[in-house]
Amino acid sequence: MARYAYVNGRYVDHRDAHVHIEDRGYQLADGVYEVVGVRDGKLIDEVAHIDRLDRSLRELRIAWPLARRTLGFVTRELMRRNRLRDGLVYMQVTRGVARRDHAFPTTPVKPALVLTTKNTRHLGADPGPGVAVKSHPDIRWDRCDIKTVALLPNVLAKQAARESGAYEAWLVDDEGCVTEGASTNAWIVTPKDELVTRQSDNGILAGITRGTLKSIANALQLKFVERPFTLDEAKKAKEAFITSATSFVTPVVKIDGETVGDGKPGPTARRLREEYVRFAAAGEAVT
Ligand code: PDD
Repeated sequence: MARYAYVNGRYVDHRDAHVHIEDRGYQLADGVYEVVGVRDGKLIDEVAHIDRLDRSLRELRIAWPLARRTLGFVTRELMRRNRLRDGLVYMQVTRGVARRDHAFPTTPVKPALVLTTKNTRHLGADPGPGVAVKSHPDIRWDRCDIKTVALLPNVLAKQAARESGAYEAWLVDDEGCVTEGASTNAWIVTPKDELVTRQSDNGILAGITRGTLKSIANALQLKFVERPFTLDEAKKAKEAFITSATSFVTPVVKIDGETVGDGKPGPTARRLREEYVRFAAAGEAVT
């Protein structure tokens, strides 16, 4: 089956999809992106993702490449063409193609839009055995709240984690606190049954899954606190887990080789994942 990508107004064969060598995303990482999860042919939390895309674009003063409604249409058309049932839609907007100069182009440039899809296995309520994480210094910049394609520190942290046999890296700031994962948000459940995740300031990406989980935690009347937590506190936690559009709620059972809790996915992470999957199933199917 042919696989399509959407590149600047055209649906093209994925193998022939390309952007210009002077695209500012390619040369300067001058662009933003979104990853929207898809389950049973339904986009998960689409509005919140597109709101965050809008925010990222505004923060960098990049114009919308097309009308917001049109993006919704194009996304669905690409999903239909690629028969996407489970996986994700990747959306990337860069400032566009211009002669290389660090400063913004002085003549009008059309922002570049690329959409791709990826099939993954169907994620259900069962979280599996959980994953290991490895700590890594957080060497990123001060605007981690913007979802930019400038991901080199995240790439290096993830690679270090993978080389050590861990699934995800947990980034640790100068105070010894876990900010977030390389591509996920980080959570713990304390011995006092407090559900903790770091407050969303410029130090982390305000995950859409994180936001939805906050509402779920509220509805379940869990004790929920947004505050920094140290790596040490995480290692002594009852439970730990990560969240993202592609991993939903995934229990963390090992941190730097040390077992978290009893080394198995805990009841809070399990419950939150169940509720999240229920939420994801309620979306609108793409026909
Ligand atoms: N990553 N923190 C970082 C640094 C991320 O890159 C992501 C998402 C998250 C979780 O955000 P959300 O719940 O909106 O997916 C947190 C995506 C999945 C990626 O880069 O592939």
